[in-house]
Amino acid sequence: MKESFRQVYIGDVSLRNPLLMAPIFTGYATPEGLVTTKFTDFYELRARHVGALMPEPFCIEENTREIACQAGLYNDDMIAPLMMFNTAVHQVGARTVAHLSHPGRLANPDLSEGPVLSSSSRPCLGPYDKPRAMTKEDIQRTKRRFAEAAKAAARAGFDLTELEFGHGHLVAQFLSPLVNDRDDGYGGTLEKRARFGLEILEALRQEVTLPVMVRLCGDEMVPGGLGLEDAVQLSVMVEEAGAAALNVSVGSGCETPDWCYGHESVDMERSWEAAERMKKAVKLPVVAAGGVRSPAVARNLLLSGRADLLAVGKALIADPDFAGRILGTVRGRYRPCLGCLEGCLNLVRQGGSLECMSNPQVGLNHREGTLPKTKSPKDVAVVGGGPMAMEAAITLHQRGHEVTLFNAEDAYLMTYDGKDEPELVRDLLEFLKAETRRKVRVVVSDVALLNLHGKFEAVLLATGDEFESLAGKLSAESKSRAEVLSRLTRSLHKAVTAGYKAALKI
Ligand SMILES: Cc1cc2nc3c(=O)[nH]c(=O)nc-3n(C[C@H](O)[C@H](O)[C@H](O)COP(=O)(O)O)c2cc1C
Ligand code: SF4
Repeated sequence: MKESFRQVYIGDVSLRNPLLMAPIFTGYATPEGLVTTKFTDFYELRARHVGALMPEPFCIEENTREIACQAGLYNDDMIAPLMMFNTAVHQVGARTVAHLSHPGRLANPDLSEGPVLSSSSRPCLGPYDKPRAMTKEDIQRTKRRFAEAAKAAARAGFDLTELEFGHGHLVAQFLSPLVNDRDDGYGGTLEKRARFGLEILEALRQEVTLPVMVRLCGDEMVPGGLGLEDAVQLSVMVEEAGAAALNVSVGSGCETPDWCYGHESVDMERSWEAAERMKKAVKLPVVAAGGVRSPAVARNLLLSGRADLLAVGKALIADPDFAGRILGTVRGRYRPCLGCLEGCLNLVRQGGSLECMSNPQVGLNHREGTLPKTKSPKDVAVVGGGPMAMEAAITLHQRGHEVTLFNAEDAYLMTYDGKDEPELVRDLLEFLKAETRRKVRVVVSDVALLNLHGKFEAVLLATGDEFESLAGKLSAESKSRAEVLSRLTRSLHKAVTAGYKAALKI
């Protein structure tokens, strides 16, 4: 294994390699905030190759949820299921990080009683409530809540904690000159705007022995917001205050969500640049994050020394083996993340739980990654060349069937021919084509002329999925790029899910 992929330390905790899973909501906890078997299974599968895993952001108190079923760390009932989660992840060799989050004015108004809190009363436009500026008492109580949550994380068996200072969440609302208009000791100069966060960090350092990482925003990417120069100064303050590592991302969940969630339309090079700048300013290990969608990009970031560690989120949702592919320990093509945010953000925000437009197994009930092998292998014909047919053929093969795919087109198997730029959609089709070619026999033939009857033990007709007709139609309708991507990825998901489910029935 390459030198850069060896063991690294955060504080006194060793990680077997420098890859982390970044915190992303799943909606797999109960409405009371307890983690479930589905939650643990999802993460255990993704922990097999990373150095450390951060599950979804933990609520540190009631009334601060962003989604209905968000895991929490604020009462005793939450500890036992989290101990099971930690045991499962540790058993596959990864460390665990409890990412502690308070959304402030980004709290979901439908899930909160009473006023939402922030540094000021400046609201985040959209579906959010106007916040109340925090009093000194609110500040003291919130510091205690963070420290209590960190103690609960230690009791539940986590190896590390991380404080959320970025993403437009509560501490970022103090740091950002765009939001913080206070004239007390918590507003004004950068030092004063940083005071709330640094006091929380100090409280954790006093009360828990776990190393504390800090997620810092390298640039809010909005005029008047926290910029890179301030962020670099802040990284030095955070180091002096005793943080064990910096995890750098960009954007704000309020003003610039596409940056914060890593939508495919933004160039996440800006996030890696911010990490690189901070790495030059501090001695702490620095984690870069955001927009890593291919193993080659990940390897390049680490081997070039731009960051000490790398946090990967969505690519690990789409392909649970993605970290192994970066390390070179898992071979074969990766199932790409489309950068669409349809399944991981939009569905979850709308009250559902995590699904992935690229991977039909994410969010289904049976345990992902443990595809049931067939007890009676059959000779199966799959008819069609679109994503539904390809996903069905691949799944049937993985279940142990002998598969032949019949497709009428000369240029067999589908290629996206839209004029817009959904490059990542193309990547998924390329993945499906390559896997189909590698795993099943493909026959180019007009099946209407074939008599399949009697030649196969099962025939699966997988023609005419919506995606096939939509691809051409949308490019002709000249929709906005965002709408094209959204509609394409949703219909792609419908097609691969139908193919996958049909293959489970044979
Ligand atoms: C649905 C969703 C929710 C997220 N929630 C948080 C959050 O609460 N706190 C945080 O620090 N990052 C959050 N992130 C950002 C991720 O941790 C990560 O930085 C981002 O997805 C970019 O990395 P990626 O392109 O590898 O996914 C979220 C991302 C997504 C997609
Ligand atoms: S493919 Fe879309 S839904 Fe799946 S992880 Fe990537 S952005 Fe999220």
